[in-house]
Amino acid sequence: MFIVLEGIDGCGKSTQIINLADFFFHQDKYNHIVVTREPYRRREIREILKTNEMPNEKKDQLVYLFVEDRKEHFKEVIIPSLNRGHIVLCDRYKYSTICYQSAQGFSLERLLDMHRFMPVPDLVFVFDVNVETALKRVSYDYSRKKESKFEQKNFLEVVRRNYLSLNELFPDENIILIDGNESERVVFEKIKKAIQKI
Ligand code: TMP
Repeated sequence: MFIVLEGIDGCGKSTQIINLADFFFHQDKYNHIVVTREPYRRREIREILKTNEMPNEKKDQLVYLFVEDRKEHFKEVIIPSLNRGHIVLCDRYKYSTICYQSAQGFSLERLLDMHRFMPVPDLVFVFDVNVETALKRVSYDYSRKKESKFEQKNFLEVVRRNYLSLNELFPDENIILIDGNESERVVFEKIKKAIQKI
């Protein structure tokens, strides 16, 4: 099973991915779980995100890097793990490039084209939170330096709208929208219900 967690910065997905891993781990002694994330390992990406002044700068270079990084991630981690029968939980995937880089002004058509032949996850959770809440969470998290110039209100409003339209964009994919404004426990209950359904 390949499960993806998505949403704007501060939406709570990184907390929920650990809850989900814990849930699967204890559910069955034969479950083996791989928890992974994108961007995968291209250091240039995080450097650009830290130093780039405006969200709309360097979009072409970022798209190229994100897509190449994703191909490597697939080849090196996701496909081998799925082939071994492991459950793969991935923090961000193609939906991040589609929602963030189209908010940067990159052509949506081209982004969709670049991802046309990439494997479709079994399940995608999109955590929807209002941008004020998300930014508060990001700034309260003292363990975390401001890592991305994308953590700005106006920009994240556009990204959030893009996430909300993913179901229309991918009607054949299993994308579940979760209200992430509620407490960690309530959000996790909703995730478990969705998992049990499938
Ligand atoms: P993270 O905070 O979840 O590690 O993600 C790093 C930042 O990179 C975050 O602001 C979202 C952004 N991002 C994109 O813009 N496009 C992508 O394809 C990915 C994977 C992340």
